[in-house]
Amino acid sequence: MTIRFLDELELAGKRVLLRVDFNVPLNDRHEVADDTRIRAALPTIRFLLDRGAKVILMSHLGRPKGSPDRRWTLEPVGASLAALLKREVVHTDDCVGSGVKKVVSEMREGGLVLLENLRFHEGETRNDPGFAQRLAAFGDAYVDDAFGAVHRAHASVDALPRLFPDRAAGFLIRAELDALSRLAQTPERPYVAVLGGAKVSDKIGVLEHLMGRVDSVAVGGAMAYTFLAALGVRVGASRVEAEKTWQARRLLDRAQERGIEVLLPTDHVVSSAADGSAPAEVVQGPIPDGMMGLDIGPVTAARFAERVLSARTVFWNGPMGLFEVDAFAAGTMALSRALADSRGYTVVGGGDSAAAIARAGLADRVSHVSTGGGASLEYLEGKELPGLKALEV
Ligand code: 3PG
Repeated sequence: MTIRFLDELELAGKRVLLRVDFNVPLNDRHEVADDTRIRAALPTIRFLLDRGAKVILMSHLGRPKGSPDRRWTLEPVGASLAALLKREVVHTDDCVGSGVKKVVSEMREGGLVLLENLRFHEGETRNDPGFAQRLAAFGDAYVDDAFGAVHRAHASVDALPRLFPDRAAGFLIRAELDALSRLAQTPERPYVAVLGGAKVSDKIGVLEHLMGRVDSVAVGGAMAYTFLAALGVRVGASRVEAEKTWQARRLLDRAQERGIEVLLPTDHVVSSAADGSAPAEVVQGPIPDGMMGLDIGPVTAARFAERVLSARTVFWNGPMGLFEVDAFAAGTMALSRALADSRGYTVVGGGDSAAAIARAGLADRVSHVSTGGGASLEYLEGKELPGLKALEV
């Protein structure tokens, strides 16, 4: 079973349903705050438009509860896309129904329509075949370029593509698979993974997978405190997932059996308040009672950076601290610089770490920044991704 890519289909003049992941952050004025995901879909959109396809874009935004909700309209996304492409984007006020049918029937070759948020209908997240049929009526062919959503068994990425003999993946999915498969299949050694973020529970699967492949794992962010607690180190009032300490311990034992180095923080930026309202200080070793570890300390940051700089392959997912607060951003910024300075193959696995490297202004100095946080982790865990499975022919 294989996946075809859009340049293998004859799509000129056809109505192409193109699933994209335009789930982007919005600011207080309801404008697109970060257009990375929109830009990432442009090569596929331009390719189709240049070939005279009629392009019907579909996306979700946020997590509305299956009915229209103005907070999650794709209207600002349409405005941002129109500005990037310098051409008209017709935004419909629903994703199915007679209004959409009329708009689509009036499309010309090279026309571009953005359907309203798919999650305004509960059929989307329920993977409802009837909802998929209603969407399918608007297209002759289907292209998926929503890498960030391929781990969701939702109608527009699972039930819908199966209805089209002409179905393919777009260029973004191709680039993501090229980068991630290089990590999964043929990583050059030494291979170092740096994992951070709030929860161990989100990363257990990928950690277990990486244990068989990497030479070193560096763990930062709040999840490091669960590992330190599992080793009996005092972590003060730091966030610990008490019910996960046994799994953390098991992972550490497994790493030791396999000769995989696990680097944990040895110094920390601590404070009694996570919002930056109380003074922050650096402590070595155990964290005093009442204090929370909120970033890795400078010694730890230098050690993690040193490993990154001597690696041939690096995968990074999850910030090293609460980098949204300036007082706790130094560790994440130091790691971003190390990835940027690395001469190895460097992949940033979406979500917060992608936002962090963008904030550091270094996103174009790593080999690949994934647009899919959850999707890239599930891919590396070796899970079957519904959106890719549904594209197989
Ligand atoms: C993401 O932002 O990771 C994707 O768009 C998927 O969104 P979801 O987690 O709301 O399904």
